[in-house]
Amino acid sequence: MRILLLTHTFNSLTQRIFIELSIMGHDLSVEFDINDAVTTEAVELFRPHLILAPYLRRAIPESIWRNYVTLVVHPGIVGDRGPSSIDWAILENEADWGVTVLQAEAEMDAGPIWATESFAMRDATKSSLYRNEVTEAALRAVLSAVERVAEYNSGAWKPVPLDQWTPRGRLRLAMKPEDRSIDWERDNTSTVLRKIRASDSFPGVLDTLFGKPCHLFDAHAFPANGAPGELAGRVRDGVVKLTSDGAIWIGHAKRPDFWPGIKLPTAVAFPEAASLSELAEETGDIRYEEAEGIGYLHFDFYNGAMGTNACKRLLSAYLQARSRPTRIIVLMGGADFFSNGLDLNLIEASDSPSDESMLNIEAMDDLCQAILETDSQLTISALQGNAGAGGAFLALAADEVWERSGVILNPHYKNMGNLYGSEFWTYRLPLRVGDDQATQIMQNRLPLGVEDAKRLGFIDDHFGQDIAEFAAQVRHRASALATSPDFADRLAAKRSSRATDEAAKSLAQYRSEELSHMQRNFYGFDPSYHVARHHFVQKTPHSWTPRHLARHRELGWTAPEN
Ligand code: COA
Repeated sequence: MRILLLTHTFNSLTQRIFIELSIMGHDLSVEFDINDAVTTEAVELFRPHLILAPYLRRAIPESIWRNYVTLVVHPGIVGDRGPSSIDWAILENEADWGVTVLQAEAEMDAGPIWATESFAMRDATKSSLYRNEVTEAALRAVLSAVERVAEYNSGAWKPVPLDQWTPRGRLRLAMKPEDRSIDWERDNTSTVLRKIRASDSFPGVLDTLFGKPCHLFDAHAFPANGAPGELAGRVRDGVVKLTSDGAIWIGHAKRPDFWPGIKLPTAVAFPEAASLSELAEETGDIRYEEAEGIGYLHFDFYNGAMGTNACKRLLSAYLQARSRPTRIIVLMGGADFFSNGLDLNLIEASDSPSDESMLNIEAMDDLCQAILETDSQLTISALQGNAGAGGAFLALAADEVWERSGVILNPHYKNMGNLYGSEFWTYRLPLRVGDDQATQIMQNRLPLGVEDAKRLGFIDDHFGQDIAEFAAQVRHRASALATSPDFADRLAAKRSSRATDEAAKSLAQYRSEELSHMQRNFYGFDPSYHVARHHFVQKTPHSWTPRHLARHRELGWTAPEN
C-alpha cells in the first residue's frame, strides 16, 4: 500500500512506524502537518491508499478524511479524547492505559475504532512512557489496523463506532498549569514527582525557584527533610527542594527571563544555586557496578544530551572502570536514551556557542578515543534506548554493539545544519558497514531500525523487548563471552587489529580531519549549524517537510495510477 504519514514532526513514534511499515514492503512518504493547503497538496501528489496520523496537533481537513481512509493514532484508551491524555493518565495514577487507532471524523479523536491496545503504567516520565509502552502499543494497534484496510475497502469489515463501546475514557480538556501546580506544604514527594513526570518534555510544572517563575523538569526523590518548599541544597547541577514528607532533586528548569529561555540544568538557569550547600548523593547520573569480572557503566543523562562536563565526568568514570581487573566493560547508557551527542541546549545558552561546540566535541572525542584505545578489556555498547547523531557513533567506539529490539538509531549529523560530525565515525562506520553503505547512511538521514542495523553490520545483535529482559540478556551474554574459552584470543585479535588500523591511519589523524570539518561548521562563514541548532532548541515549528522524507515532493515523482 501507499501510506502517507501525516504528522506534526518525525518523532520517535512516527520513525518507528515508518521503519516497521517499510520492512513490511509498504510504500511510504511523510508530510508534516503545517496547514490544510499543504496537507491537501501532499495527498494529491502521493494519492495514498491510507493516511496515517501518528502524531497530530490539529484536526485533519474534511476534504481529506471524506475521500481517503485516514487513521489517527491517539495515545489514550477508547473514549479518551483531548490533547493531554498521557499527562492525565499519570496525574490520576491510572494503573493501565492504552493507545487507540481511530478513523478521522469531524470531532477530533471521536471517530470509529479500528484497533486498540493497552499497557500497564509505570512510574516514569511522560516521554519515557511515550517512547516505550505507548510506542509498542501504538505499533501493535497500527499493524492490526493496516491489516484491516483491504477488508474495510471491500465492505467485509467496519470499524466500531465509539457509541457502541462502553468506554472508560472520556473527553478531557487540555491540562492547565493549575492542574499541575505543586502545593509544597501539602503535596508529598510522590504527588510532586507525579506532577513533574506528567509534564515532562512540555510544558513542565510552573513553579518558582529563588523567587523567580520557571518550569520544572527532570525530578527524582532525594533523601532529605525539612521545611516544605525550602531549598535544602545543591547536587551537581540540580537543586533539592523539600516536600511535605521528604525532598526532590530538580535537574532541569526553564526560565523565561533567562536567555535563551530554554530548558537547562537548574544550576545553569539559576547561577544563584552556586550559593547553596553541596549535598552528598547516593546515586547519580553515572553509575558503575561490577559482577563476575564484568564492569557495567551506566550513564543516564537527561534527554541523552552529553555536555562538555558530562563527557568529562563520564571519561573519568570510564578510565576508572578501565583500571579495574575486569575482562569486559559494558557501556549501558541510560534507560531512555543511550546518547544524543552534544548538549545543544547548553551550547545555545553559552557565551560563545562556537567555542562551546568545540569544547563539547573535543570532550566527546576524548571519551570515544579512550574506549577505542582500551586494550585491557573487550568493550560492549548495550543500547537500552535510542541514540542519535554523535551518540550513535559513541556506541560504535566499542568492540561489540547490542541493541534492545525496538531501539531506533539516527546515525547521521546532517539534519543539524549539515554538521560533518566526529566521534571517529570516519573510522568506525566504513569499517562496520563498508564505504558505500556508510555514504548512504550519512546522506539518507533516515532512522535505522534494529533489523536493518544488524543486516548492515552497524550493530552485532538485538534482543529483548523490554528493558528488564534486555538487561538480563546483556548480563547473560556478557558473562558467556567473559568465560568463553576463546576470550583471550578475542582480546589478542582486538589488540592486533587496532595496531594494524593505527599503522594504516592513526586515531589522531581521523580525529584531526573530522575536527577540521567541525571547525568550519562552528566558525566558518556558513551559519547553517547555528541556525539549525537554534530552531531545534527553540522548537520552531516546521515550515516545510524535508525532501528526504516527503518522497512525493521529489523531482520526477508521479503517483502510480492504482
Ligand atoms: N541536546 C539537547 N537536547 C536534546 C538533544 C541534544 N543533542 N537531542 C535531543 N534532545 C532533546 C529534545 O530537545 C527533546 O527535548 P524535550 O524534552 O524538550 O522534548 C528531547 O531530547 C527528545 O528529543 P526529540 O527530538 O523529541 O526525540 P526524537 O526521538 O523525536 O528524536 C533525535 C531523536 C536524536 C533524532 C533528535 O532528538 C535529534 O536530532 N537530536 C539532535 C542530535 C544532534 O544533532 N546532536 C548534536 C550533534 S552530535
